[in-house]
Amino acid sequence: MNLLHRSIATGLLLASASLAHAQLQGSKPDETPVNHPVPAIQDTETPAQRDARMAWWREARFGMFIHWGLYSIPAGEWHGQRTTHIGEWIMNDLSIPVADYKAFATQFNPTGFSAHDIVALAKSAGMKYIVITAKHHDGFAMFDSKADPFNIVVATPFKRDPLKELAEECRKQGVKLGFYYSQAQDWTAPGGAAAVRGDHNKETGHWDKAQDGSFDEYLHKKSIPQIKELLENYKGYPVVVWFDTPTKAMTPERAAEVVKLLNKYPNLIWNNRLGGTYKGDTETPEQYIPAQGYPGRDWESCMTMNDTWGFKYYDTNFKSTETLLRNLIDIASKGGNYLLNIGPDSKGIVPQPEVERLQQMGQWLKVNGEAIYGTSATIFDTPTGTFSTTEKGRNGQPKFIPTWNWRSTTKGNKVYVEIFDWKNTFHVDKMPRKVTSTYLLADPAHKPLKFTQNGTALDVQLPEKALDPIATVLVLNTAS
Ligand code: GLC
Repeated sequence: MNLLHRSIATGLLLASASLAHAQLQGSKPDETPVNHPVPAIQDTETPAQRDARMAWWREARFGMFIHWGLYSIPAGEWHGQRTTHIGEWIMNDLSIPVADYKAFATQFNPTGFSAHDIVALAKSAGMKYIVITAKHHDGFAMFDSKADPFNIVVATPFKRDPLKELAEECRKQGVKLGFYYSQAQDWTAPGGAAAVRGDHNKETGHWDKAQDGSFDEYLHKKSIPQIKELLENYKGYPVVVWFDTPTKAMTPERAAEVVKLLNKYPNLIWNNRLGGTYKGDTETPEQYIPAQGYPGRDWESCMTMNDTWGFKYYDTNFKSTETLLRNLIDIASKGGNYLLNIGPDSKGIVPQPEVERLQQMGQWLKVNGEAIYGTSATIFDTPTGTFSTTEKGRNGQPKFIPTWNWRSTTKGNKVYVEIFDWKNTFHVDKMPRKVTSTYLLADPAHKPLKFTQNGTALDVQLPEKALDPIATVLVLNTAS
């Protein structure tokens, strides 16, 4: 990734007050320094060290999230009752007793799982990294764990370690691998935290006596030892640790115990969900794209293709490839990454509608990837939508309603314009740079297009037909 270009672009944006940053001016995350019991890498490294650590991640732009675990067996339904919520929460939402849930392990034999095929799928989609649920809130470890026997190697007939197989394939196929780990919530381990929901205990969130116990004991006997196993046992992976739902249990002191471990891996990237006031490396907007990104912060929108992370057999509400691609482009135009989820079933098979969409996205990226990978945010101040006056979004702020005309990304002298709504001309009132030539990225001949630049206004004459029905990329070579 050209860090230089990124910082030039950022500098340009900051310097140019006349650019109203309609696309980019987000709420700046609180920069007040926090006195952590154990300083994390983000507290001690220099900006240059940080840029070097984040370089591959910023270049990548597109990753695969995998939610896979025992919850793929009930697949959204238990004893005839369907959950209305996300699949991996079924144990909590339907108050499944610990013993009943744990018994799913004896049936878990995902012989259709192929690390090779999943990594190849990520690759063909143009994804550069994978983050898989090593342990979700249900407490079931999808890896070989000595720390706790409720895991895929010890407690199932399958006996294989999918994380190990994925690590090997990722190494072979050149994809990065990260692990999601639910550090606080654990609904099957005594003492594990549970977000308080429904009619569960108002203090502990528990619904089964078997869940009661000491959180500190859980943290020191299961959570931290398992994080240690994950960090130590996969030779060079994980490159990302993706924490989740810290709950109030993750006090600064407890989180500091985890940070001590993380600090031993100076190249590691970890998200903002550890808890205990640690901000980590990345903001993680979930199921939405922030209206203006997070200027000055790395961020990653994680999203599902249907309405669940973990497999639910009856959720067929898949977004179109068009929506998914527009999301990727929208995110890149705001300087973020897209972590797009797949939810394999109890046999380890990736649902076909997910495979198809990923392959279609990959086809677009094969031609147009240059406009996504290693790019930085738009240099234009054109608004990308409006804020609703009535509806609230997932962040509690007025909901942002995007308009899908075009977006833009930048890399060095090149400005990419991803056009959704094709017209005869591409026009902007304010083009902050001098354009020297223009062409369509999908045109193998890169035939120059006619353009005029009058004052700040730019008009590029486009051919009658879009080269891609979803997004055709116009390239503007610029003098700076
Ligand atoms: C939420 C959910 C969880 C899911 C995660 C992904 O926090 O608790 O089930 O894994 O989002 O971002």
